[in-house]
Amino acid sequence: MNRFTIAVIEGDGIGREVVPEGLRVLEAAARRFDASLSWHHFDWGCQTYLKTGRMMPEDGLDQLREFDAIYLGAVGYPGVPDHVSLWGLLIPIRRGFQQYVNLRPVRLLHGVDSPVKGFPPGNIDFCIVRENNEGEYSEVGGRLYSHTDAEMAVQETVFTRRGCDRIIRYAFELAQTRKRHVTSATKSNGIIHTMPFWDERFASVAQNFPDVRTDQYHIDILTAHFVRHPDWFDVVVGSNLFGDILSDLGAAVVGSIGLAPSANLNPEREFPSMFEPVHGSAPDIAGQGIANPIAQIWSGAMMLQHLGQSRAARAVEKAIEAVLARPEVRTPDLGGKAGTRDVGDAIAHEIAVVADTQ
Ligand code: NAI
Ligand code: MG
Repeated sequence: MNRFTIAVIEGDGIGREVVPEGLRVLEAAARRFDASLSWHHFDWGCQTYLKTGRMMPEDGLDQLREFDAIYLGAVGYPGVPDHVSLWGLLIPIRRGFQQYVNLRPVRLLHGVDSPVKGFPPGNIDFCIVRENNEGEYSEVGGRLYSHTDAEMAVQETVFTRRGCDRIIRYAFELAQTRKRHVTSATKSNGIIHTMPFWDERFASVAQNFPDVRTDQYHIDILTAHFVRHPDWFDVVVGSNLFGDILSDLGAAVVGSIGLAPSANLNPEREFPSMFEPVHGSAPDIAGQGIANPIAQIWSGAMMLQHLGQSRAARAVEKAIEAVLARPEVRTPDLGGKAGTRDVGDAIAHEIAVVADTQ
């Protein structure tokens, strides 16, 4: 039997509602495919911050280091500034564990109504590869003359050759397993130092992949193409900020942010990777039991895949597709009346009956 120990951080808001559904479905998949998942819960997040002044303990990364993977809900809640919650937990884990790839699949599933008309399921199927360690999300900068008329803020963007090359290379290698097409998100007309550098690195890495077709768009028109031509894309690679924005847009194009999964990967496997939905803690619907758990559950399938449990991962994806294909069990974001738990239950039940494809 394959045994894995997983660190679980439910975090805040709907994270506390959707993670238990993820665990239930993953357990059903593990049972069926003869794997053993042992969960270790860490009660870190905004509640911990309000009690202790820290989102996670000072040795938080050391506590997580030996796990096979980290399964995260979301962090952030009113009462704690968003930059405090993200920089106190999520970003230190992504950086400390060199999870430099943020992989975010965008796929239109059967039974889901896209706000963009005219694209049948299967026609929208691409991956966003977001740089996850540097770029625009840097703490280099500061303020001068606070609370005066001369007040100013400076925030530096950091692009390194190592950082650009490794994320772009990952995108090309991923494309080689798919439709062999990589699109680069840039803005080298307006941002005149970092973005031309990004373009240069993209062109340089691309030379090593002559079998992969390339495209490059400025981020402004690229957002329009996401809406008008979502069938154009296979792998889209972008900096930290561009990838972040594109992934919420991609999620909306394929039906709901409540469906969008993501993986924070350390491809070298020197550290644990972390799996979490694209969405945040959704305080506007937290506590009502109506959050869509599918993004969390699908992120769990990505975790199984990363752990080498591809049959179990595929079974979870097929169970999600089977449940979505029926209109009865849907949360309100997809126009239904079902609750978080109903959807988790239905997917866990489906695992037992879906055909084993491998
Ligand atoms: P959000 O993703 O939490 O919510 C945006 C909108 O989508 C809300 O209307 C929400 O109700 C809806 N939504 C999100 N997930 C849903 C789901 N599973 N089912 C149904 N509807 C869903 O983004 P927002 O409002 O910008 O941020 C809220 C908090 O989450 C903030 O504190 C923010 O910093 C944090 N956040 C945390 C992230 C993380 O932990 N990775 C990522 C994004 C935001
Ligand atoms: Mg985001």
